[in-house]
Amino acid sequence: MNVYDSWRIAAMLNAQGMVATKNVADADIIILNTCSVREKATNKVFSELGRIRDIKKQDAIFGIVGCVAREVGRNAFRRMPDLNFVLGPQSYHRLPQILQDPDSKLLNIDLTGLEKFDEMPQLEHAPTVSYIPIQEGCNHCCTYCIVPYTRGPELSRSYDDVMRDTMHAAETGAVEICFLGQNVNGYKYTDANGKIFRLSDLIRATAKIPEIRRIRFTSSYPTEMTDDLIEMFRDEPKLLPFLNMPIQSGSPDVLKRMNRPYSLDSYLEIIEKLRAARPDIQISSDFIVGFPGETDDDFAQTMDIARRVKYINSYSFKYSPRPHTAAALMPNQIAENIKRERLAILDSELNEIQREFNETCIGKTLTCLCEGPDKTGRHLIYRTPYMQQCIVAKPKNDMPAIMADIKITAANRASLRGEFVKD
Ligand code: 5AD
Ligand code: SF4
Repeated sequence: MNVYDSWRIAAMLNAQGMVATKNVADADIIILNTCSVREKATNKVFSELGRIRDIKKQDAIFGIVGCVAREVGRNAFRRMPDLNFVLGPQSYHRLPQILQDPDSKLLNIDLTGLEKFDEMPQLEHAPTVSYIPIQEGCNHCCTYCIVPYTRGPELSRSYDDVMRDTMHAAETGAVEICFLGQNVNGYKYTDANGKIFRLSDLIRATAKIPEIRRIRFTSSYPTEMTDDLIEMFRDEPKLLPFLNMPIQSGSPDVLKRMNRPYSLDSYLEIIEKLRAARPDIQISSDFIVGFPGETDDDFAQTMDIARRVKYINSYSFKYSPRPHTAAALMPNQIAENIKRERLAILDSELNEIQREFNETCIGKTLTCLCEGPDKTGRHLIYRTPYMQQCIVAKPKNDMPAIMADIKITAANRASLRGEFVKD
């Protein structure tokens, strides 16, 4: 979501006649787009701001946008008096105001809903993989999560707006569409005639656009994985056989305290249905270890579910207490060394499962999407339907195909190697 927000900010400043520079010392305006989902990311913001202040041009204006801006608000000016603006994740479209009056201190951390999507210019050329936000905010109240506070209640964009953005992306270069939302599969839009549109409707319509060859969406909440959406995995070959559906913990007790009201059985039942619809589907998860009160036995249950589902491409985090969340006030917070230890054990298991899965791909032919050359310029990086990186030798004369059938010849934990299948 932040990558997408940054693209839109760049497009907005382009429309004001500005161009991007890679060198902070050359910039007239410097914007740090921030994430507050874990404490570590928040802490990094102020050290990074200090670094920027020391190297930026004296009259360059700088500030923060995104969730840390909303979390810290006015206090950001106290911590860093040189800052010029602090704009929350739903008010960064107000940024041009600071260009008119660079000496003011611009603060706006309001929850303005979906306003920003309509007020900002579109990207002129869509990236090959284009993110399309369809929903913002979250109505689930996981007790550890700051998102409902920073991004506000869940709102779905209108079906017409989403399809207009998707068509625009397709017409200006997109080959893959990734629908985005904090709770993307909860997407629900009711039009003026009372007609309800769901994520499955967006997928079906997008699959009809010839330029779009691949579709995916992230991030999904388990209980919102409705049958109409599961059927899309059976009916729409353009929908990739890969789904991020975080379980967070394998312990029913921890899930209860996290306020994630699903049982392991119901979660596994959804995975069974998905596998019945698309036998080659692979699932990815986010995990939190060291949630308040997590016992050795709770953690063992997380390890157990990771092995059982054989998650690929997963993310695991140490629990970090966040302001405005219930879990931060819970008793039995877990010591840092135990969190660190559990994270290392889980990571090593997830890596092993990933390596095993990557090895099962050897000998298979996968249709992959080109991301461009690697650092050496001698290879091309492709992305498989399971989001693995696949490295292929660059053809001598041919232009690289944006989509290509690649036979996988080798694999390790981090990536695959392959060769083009010639017809
Ligand atoms: N501590 C650790 N991880 C968190 N996440 C969200 N809040 C926290 C927190 N307080 C993780 C969840 C979520 C991902 C985006 O970040 O796993 O799925
Ligand atoms: Fe946060 Fe996701 Fe839970 Fe919403 S569903 S509160 S975004 S972890």
